[in-house]
Amino acid sequence: DGFTAEKLFNQGFSYTYDDVIFLPHYIDFAADAVDLSTHLTRHLPLSLPFVASPMDTVSESAMAAAMASLGGIAIVHSNTSASSQASFLHTAKSRRVPILSDPAFCHPSAVVDHDDAFAGSPFLLVTETGTSKGKLLGYVAKRDWTNRTDKDLKVRDYMSPPPTAVPWNADLTRIEGVMESEKKNGVVLVRDEEVVDFVTKEEVERVKGYPRLAAAGSVGPDGKWMVGAAIGTREEDKERLEHLVKAGVNVVVLDSSQGNSSYQLEMIKYVKKVYPELDVIGGNVVTMYQAENLIQAGVDGLRVGMGSGSICTTQEVCAVGRGQATAVYKVSSIAYKSGVPVIADGGISNSGHIVKALSLGASTVMMGSFLAGSHEAPGAYEYQNGQRVKKYRGMGSLEAMTKGSDARYLGDTAKLKIAQGVVGAVKDKGSVLNFIPYTLQAVRQGFQDIGASSIQSAHDLLRSRVLRLEVRSGAAQVEGGVHGLVSYEKKYF
Ligand code: XMP
Repeated sequence: DGFTAEKLFNQGFSYTYDDVIFLPHYIDFAADAVDLSTHLTRHLPLSLPFVASPMDTVSESAMAAAMASLGGIAIVHSNTSASSQASFLHTAKSRRVPILSDPAFCHPSAVVDHDDAFAGSPFLLVTETGTSKGKLLGYVAKRDWTNRTDKDLKVRDYMSPPPTAVPWNADLTRIEGVMESEKKNGVVLVRDEEVVDFVTKEEVERVKGYPRLAAAGSVGPDGKWMVGAAIGTREEDKERLEHLVKAGVNVVVLDSSQGNSSYQLEMIKYVKKVYPELDVIGGNVVTMYQAENLIQAGVDGLRVGMGSGSICTTQEVCAVGRGQATAVYKVSSIAYKSGVPVIADGGISNSGHIVKALSLGASTVMMGSFLAGSHEAPGAYEYQNGQRVKKYRGMGSLEAMTKGSDARYLGDTAKLKIAQGVVGAVKDKGSVLNFIPYTLQAVRQGFQDIGASSIQSAHDLLRSRVLRLEVRSGAAQVEGGVHGLVSYEKKYF
């Protein structure tokens, strides 16, 4: 009944997730028993198959700490200087909680007469040196500072006394314990004489209210959150990589929309030679030929997708790409033979798409729009037509390229910039710490329906031709969505 993937994806059509549907199989285990632990690359295990995309409206420090705490990972974007990209890693890796206020620092004799001094943070920490690396003397909460009428005084004259310090790697339970025993509403995290952050009781309460995952967070061999980073394939990216390695990067992604290039093959070989311990993800690719070249050059993971992203215009502008379901299946069918895990990148807009990507051969899914608009995504919320939204933009949009991300979309010599992405906004989705556990549960239910108790088992069912699927006609797709109601509200949890 139905088609094998082999047959379905060899008929000359480019299919995306919505085109195809799995036939249910046999259930002999509970949804909670589905194990979605996986590998991002050859040597990097994850307990959650979710990866945050290297985009400047998705992955900076807060996303990196949150994704790692859930058992996934974020790839910090490179649309900034090497030192600021390295500092995103440093900040995320300086804590073992998914809480980040990114405080600003100042000298006790500073006069704070403008809120610029807070640099967008709710706290200003006052240290001997005016930087994170000196003795903590006190702090100023922006909320209190705003109401002051004596802003011409030096901060030392009105700062609050320094909060209790706890070690940087304290977990939520320990932090909460200290707050309770010392009757404090906040503590500072400290590492090697450096003040890392100011954690408030309010933030601890917020995080405690989210569902708890049984799986462990992603901690690397250094005992810190695992964080990845994107780089390009230019000469200066070698220097960038050096910064990132010093900051403890756990995996590096060569960020290109068409990865099968002499530049990338050379960069893969360079990374493997200079940093043999560091796993490198190549891409993006959508064909078996592209994948084979990168595998031969030594990649440890493959990023799959071209033009399938929600903000992409690559297929429209360049007439090149592939439907994402076909791309994931085709690349996975060759990558698994060399033990190279596949990352299905782009086009994920619901849990069903994740089930499809993972069952068609991917080991993880990389998401942009699904995570943008969250509390942890960079940027501030705005209101558009009465809706709370956050900006989300393609890295190939003119706006992002003006900031420097053109290396991903233009060859080294291109002088005229042509956009391959758009700038937009997505709805406020709350915290990833809240909606990712629900998404995970939905994916588990999908796996249960197809009779797969793990990602490996889904791959085995696909390759042994047990897992069957079909293409949905336009009418079947309409039928598969909510239809025939005068009004309804879509709520998943
Ligand atoms: P989603 O669908 O998750 O896609 O929002 C995220 C992925 O889209 C890719 N990306 C782009 N592709 N033009 C493109 O053609 C762009 O401007 C652009 N920006 C991001 C990227 O692979 C990302 O992970």
